[in-house]
Order: sequence, then structure tokens, then C-alpha cells
Amino acid sequence: MTSLRQPQNVLVTGGCGFIGSAFVRFLLTQPAFTGRVVNLDLLTYAANPDNVGSASASPRYLFVQADITDAAAVTQVCSQRAVDTIVHFAAESHVDRSIVGPGAFVQANIVGTYQLLEVVRSLPSIHFHHVSTDEVYGSLGATGLFSETTPYDPSSPYSASKAASDHLVRAYARTYGLSTTLSNCSNNYGPYQFPEKLIPLMIMNLCEGKPLPVYGTGANVRDWLYVDDHVEAIWTIVLRGRRGETYNIGGEAEWANLALLHKLIEVVARATGLDTAALKRQITFVTDRPGHDARYAINCSKLKSELGWTQRHNIESGLLETVRWYLDNPEWVSRVKSGAYRNWLDLNYGRRD
Ligand code: NAD
Ligand code: DAU
Repeated sequence: MTSLRQPQNVLVTGGCGFIGSAFVRFLLTQPAFTGRVVNLDLLTYAANPDNVGSASASPRYLFVQADITDAAAVTQVCSQRAVDTIVHFAAESHVDRSIVGPGAFVQANIVGTYQLLEVVRSLPSIHFHHVSTDEVYGSLGATGLFSETTPYDPSSPYSASKAASDHLVRAYARTYGLSTTLSNCSNNYGPYQFPEKLIPLMIMNLCEGKPLPVYGTGANVRDWLYVDDHVEAIWTIVLRGRRGETYNIGGEAEWANLALLHKLIEVVARATGLDTAALKRQITFVTDRPGHDARYAINCSKLKSELGWTQRHNIESGLLETVRWYLDNPEWVSRVKSGAYRNWLDLNYGRRD
């Protein structure tokens, strides 16, 4: 397999978030990558500069606080730093928040992506990789898998805003000849994930003896991928993905929410010595998410056969590493919980109870 691209100066948007920060950390430890990483992030509630603490000592790393909707600021950074590649993670990413307040999602995910594409239109030597989600495809029944040609059918304001951003990327590639690649990935989990999402929320509540809020009956199915496998897939696509192509990324690990929670309880019980039966008694069924997609499942054979990527983690190893990381990093947890997280929980439970 030959290398098509050799990025030297990579602009990462949203590099202080969960997946973006994993990508920044990954990139700076790749022996074959000797270039620079510019992390452009607005630092919203979901961001945490601690997530890139290990990278910030590197002379090849630069942080810029800016909004992706500010095209002038992004253009200036790209020009000054001779950026040749943008990997675009920045977004509002939480479905429940998009139900409470869709406006922020339209602004960050649609307008933000549009403005970045305008920057690339004015600097067309830049390759643009767009990080998107499997939620654009909508909901599956009991069988079947999302492929790259599954029609879009988003259910939430979040997934609709991501779908719109995907359409803009493809339209700019076709109309203006921009160099783009796009990836649609399933649910990620791992260290540094903001505890509004299922797995970190449940780990924290398990350890603190709090209720474990399962939406509806817990029968909704998600496909889970360890975050480091996602960032490796993205880098593979950036280096060797065909221009204009879309690649699905997934864990090939489908779990109903309640079954996943039972699995997580086993892992937490083993790691902490807490009693499994007592932990299970913390499970609480709460009002379902409006428009809750029943099932996601990914066919990622194109990425596997064309570019040779494969997952390195399974759910056992991934959950164990994740639980250990949260237990080993109480300072990160308490700092996250001291601010935005608490506000979100108040808002969330205010709506449900
Ligand atoms: P996150 O919420 O943890 O982080 C988002 C980051 O984007 C934050 O650092 C935030 O400050 C930044 N940001 C938001 N708006 C911005 C703006 N206007 N300008 C600059 N920065 C801004 O998100 P995540 O879970 O790491 O997801 C990253 C990307 O991956 C998103 O595009 C999301 O749609 C996609 N994705 C996520 C998952 C998942 O399971 N989390 C799965 C598939 C795809
Ligand atoms: O599929 C990819 C998507 O995965 C990403 O695009 C999103 O950014 C990411 O947030 C994630 O979306 P989900 O809505 O699937 O993730 P979340 O962790 O919010 O919920 C996972 C499942 O667990 C979902 O069926 C809702 C359910 N859930 C979630 C929470 C937070 C609960 O039952 N209880 C909860 O408290």
C-alpha cells in the first residue's frame, strides 16, 4: 500500500475534546510523523486542556483558542502555520443536549463546518478530513448494517446537524474540487470521555453509589469502539484514503444498553472489590430519550479491505482499560465534576424526573 499523503502541519479542530485529544496524543507519538500539530479549540464545556497535557510539552505542538465559525481566525492560523491538512473533530456532540437546545448544534456543526470549508476553498492545497458519526444513517431494525451507501435518515438535532455537515463536505468536494475524506464512526469509549456519555457516567455513578439511569427498557443497541482504534482509523484514512471517499468505522461489537451495563458492572466490581449484586441494585429505569434510535451497527469492511485497518481492542480489554483509567485519575474526575458536568446533571435530571 503506497502513501498518498504526507502531512507536515496538521490542524486538529476540537483537539481538547474526547476523541480529538486522543488523536493529538496519538499523532505526536507516531514515529513516521515528524510534523507539527496545531490544536484549534474553542474550549466549550466539553473541552479539557488536561486531555492534551502530555502533548503540550512537545515543541511540535501548538494550541490556539478559537471558534471554527471564525473563518478569519482559522485562515490566519492555516496561513501562518503552513497547514496542509485539517482533521475536523470540533462539534457539539451530545444527543440529549441537542434535544434540550438544538441551536448550538446548528451553529457549531453546520455553520462551523461550512466556515472551515470556506477556509479550505480559499487555501485549496489543504486536505480536509471530516469526522462524522453513524447516527446520520438513522435507526436499524433487528438486522442489517450501515454501509457507506445507506441513505441518510437522522433522528435527533445532533445527527441532523452532522448529516448537514457531511452533505456540505461532499458538495464542496464536487463543486469546488476540494480534497476531502470523510469517516462515519460508531459509539466511542475510553479515557478522558466527558461523563455525560453512557460509559463514563455509569462508571462514576457506580463508584459513588448513585443511580444508573437507563433510558426506556435498556434494549437500544449501540456498536462500541475503543477511542484509540478510532483515531488510528482516522489517521489511516488521512494518509491513504481515496480523495472524495467515505469510510465507515466501527467496533463490530453490538451491545444492548442494559447488557453493556451488566458487563460494565462486572468490570467495575473486579477492579474495585465492590459487590456485584449491590451495584446492580443501582440500576434505575428512567423516561426514554425522545426519538431514541433503536439500533446502530456498522459494516466497516471497506476500511478493512481497502486500507488494512482493524480494531486492536475488544469490549473486555477496552472496558477494563477505561475503568482503570477513571479509577487512576481522580483529579481529572473531580475537576470535570466541579463545573459543567454538575450543571449538566442538574439540567438532565430536571428534565427527566
Ligand atoms: P467532545 O464533545 O468530547 O469534544 C468536542 C470538542 O469540540 C471540544 O473540545 C469543544 O471545545 C470543541 N468545540 C465545540 N464547538 C467548537 C467550536 N465552535 N469551535 C472550536 N471548537 C469547538 O466530542 P467527541 O466525542 O470527542 O467527538 C468529536 C467528533 O467525533 C465530533 O465531530 C462527533 O460528532 C464525532 N463522533 C463522536 C463519537 C462519539 O462516540 N463520541 C462517535 C462518532 C463520531
Ligand atoms: O453513534 C455515535 C454517537 O455515539 C456519536 O456521534 C455521539 O457523539 C455520541 O454521543 C454517541 O451517541 P449516543 O446517543 O449513542 O451516546 P450516549 O452515550 O449518549 O448514549 C448511548 C446509549 O445509552 C443510548 O442508547 C442512550 C443510552 N443512555 C445514555 C445515557 C447518557 C442511557 O440509557 N442512559 C444515560 O444516562
